[in-house]
Amino acid sequence: EMLLYKNKDLKGKKVLVTAGPTREDIDPVRFITNRSTGKMGYAIARAARNRGADVTLISGPVNIKPPEGVRIINVYSAEEMYDAVIRHFNDIDILIKSAAVADYRPANRSELKIKKTDDDLYIELTRNKDILLEIGKIKKHQIIVGFAAETNDLVANAMAKIKKKNLDYIVANDVTMEKSGFGTENNTVKIINKFGEIIELPNMPKEEVAHEIFNQILKNER
Ligand code: CTP
Ligand code: CA
Repeated sequence: EMLLYKNKDLKGKKVLVTAGPTREDIDPVRFITNRSTGKMGYAIARAARNRGADVTLISGPVNIKPPEGVRIINVYSAEEMYDAVIRHFNDIDILIKSAAVADYRPANRSELKIKKTDDDLYIELTRNKDILLEIGKIKKHQIIVGFAAETNDLVANAMAKIKKKNLDYIVANDVTMEKSGFGTENNTVKIINKFGEIIELPNMPKEEVAHEIFNQILKNER
């Protein structure tokens, strides 16, 4: 069997992971969301726990059982995820933001179900706060890893996000590739650091991708 990691090499580290999609309510029966299933984030939480880290997982609505030995915080919307991340950020060493946060929410959530009429319906959307952007402004000793889900210009788009959000790494994910991205067991990613170095990984199970991310962090820390 391949050696993925050294035993307990994250011991003493506090790792915060965000996973899954967020839901932005339109009315009591409808919401806007995205294709994220949480598999990548949950694999990261499991990998960190297996390496001895103290792990907190902030999760949007998903259908996965939380890994044992991991502190789980369930959130619903992007605003709730923002509050939870801000609350925990000061106390941690590594933040891995694999969640697919909704960029927009309905400007007005209707308290009652919206009834159909003969007219077209227009829903006004307002911007959610960019959690990573805000975190990037207040970061001190923490190592921050973002994810970038892209359909085109993968490396250029991902690198721009490292700069804009003051990240240490970004995991660039081409979601148009087969056996990669949303809902799949495997992923094909490139790990890019803030110096622009690119580690191109082959298609592999999400838990192995998770270990590769921690391997990079630990290698550069030494
Ligand atoms: N992110 C965040 N808060 C948001 C939106 C995104 O923290 N409101 C984080 C994601 O968790 C991810 C990273 O930012 O780690 C990149 O997300 P992505 O959707 O790829 O980038 P955006 O900056 O939202 O740009 P766009 O969707 O236009 O590509
Ligand atoms: Ca986005």
